[in-house]
Amino acid sequence: MTTNAQAQCQCLDLTKLEPVFERYQGHTDGALIPVLQAAQEIYSYLPVPVLEAIADRLEVPISQVYGVVTFYAQFHLDPRGKHIVRTCQGTACHVRGAGKILDALKENLGVAPGKATDDLQFTLETVACIGACGLAPVIMVDHDTHGRLTPDNIPEILDKYRK
Ligand code: FES
Repeated sequence: MTTNAQAQCQCLDLTKLEPVFERYQGHTDGALIPVLQAAQEIYSYLPVPVLEAIADRLEVPISQVYGVVTFYAQFHLDPRGKHIVRTCQGTACHVRGAGKILDALKENLGVAPGKATDDLQFTLETVACIGACGLAPVIMVDHDTHGRLTPDNIPEILDKYRK
């Protein structure tokens, strides 16, 4: 089984940042967020060496980079799975058993919300409302919505995304 740390080492090539730095060369004011967004598109998350490289090239303190990354929910410091599983914990889903759906997801994937599986196939997240309350309880896998679920549905749904 591949650990997250091993996966990080295999995919981390800092030279991929060069085109991003070139794009924002001479425009360091206000460049931090777009550079972080571009870096996250490349690596799917923002590992520490990437943050350090960005701080170095934009000549901003690493504390400022961390401040931005931890302030905005769009940025991720941990590796992301290939598939993002979002389970709704909003009111409509909550009263229709969202807690049991979350338990089934945690058990099947073996991770807590906010974490990726060791094989980086899935990241599990909780969200407040997906906007499909009539289908409660609801989960989304990537852009697919799955509704009116019971815990028994979870293994079959996740297996469709496994390779
Ligand atoms: S509360 Fe779950 S979709 Fe709205």
